[in-house]
Amino acid sequence: RIAYVNGRYIAHRHATVHIEDRGYQFADGVYEVCEIARGFIVDMKGHLDRLDRSLSELSIGWPMHRSALMVVMREVIRRNHVRDGIVYLQVTRGVAPRDHPFPVGVTPSLVVTAKKFDAAKVHQKAEAGVQIITVPENRWDRVDIKSVGLLPNVLAKQKAREAGAQEAWFVDPDGTVKEGASTNAWIVTQDGALVTRPADHGILRGITRTTLFKVAESLGLRIEERPFTVEEALAAREAFLSSATTLATPIIAIDGHPVANGHPGSVTLSLRQAFFDIAE
Ligand code: PDD
Repeated sequence: RIAYVNGRYIAHRHATVHIEDRGYQFADGVYEVCEIARGFIVDMKGHLDRLDRSLSELSIGWPMHRSALMVVMREVIRRNHVRDGIVYLQVTRGVAPRDHPFPVGVTPSLVVTAKKFDAAKVHQKAEAGVQIITVPENRWDRVDIKSVGLLPNVLAKQKAREAGAQEAWFVDPDGTVKEGASTNAWIVTQDGALVTRPADHGILRGITRTTLFKVAESLGLRIEERPFTVEEALAAREAFLSSATTLATPIIAIDGHPVANGHPGSVTLSLRQAFFDIAE
């Protein structure tokens, strides 16, 4: 495998960054994960627009021109022979002696990696549905920034794994669901409407989430952008999660309780099917 690190394409196993990189010391950086399907980067524009927003919210400059970054992404994908898989980008503030305020005159660090997967296997597994758990929301209030500071997400995901589940939903004290540790959260109501939390505050505005709005529209489904509770999800017709790596994936159980009849929902599966007709 080949990785891109700060201007060079090198063997993945030799790809390193400096010990005083601020990503390593302070989680002072941002990232994106894009799905690659049949050789195309899905929703590349959306991901790069969000990267731009994350960078500007943290006053980190672009490590290179946007069009150059697109060339690097495509080159990493090509060198790793990825037809189906993911490409990962990470930009940190750069390398400087450890001191909390922004260092002056540093160049942001850029890492790009790509990984292939067996699309047929991945889709087959996702379509079988996943189990999730719920955990109290304990993250900061700027989760709209796609920062590499993911410790609460890591702990939540580990807790899910130890419970035999694949994802954890962060739940606010008022009982409403925020999102998963690495996915957005959705339900389908008994009358067939899609419900997902508004993305202006408290969750990451998923690129897949935005594309699913268009998919839903093309399928004639109604969308309600509003908070929902765990109780509502358990009483819903369907529940599902979304991200670049999972697309729309059915949730079959929450905290050990089945959602509806405990089988993947048909609305979720049709959204998943239709996704690639709409994604750019
Ligand atoms: N996670 N919410 C959180 C907290 C996320 O980390 C992600 C993405 C999403 C979905 O966003 P998108 O549809 O743009 O992938 C929502 C990536 C896949 C990750 O951390 O691996």
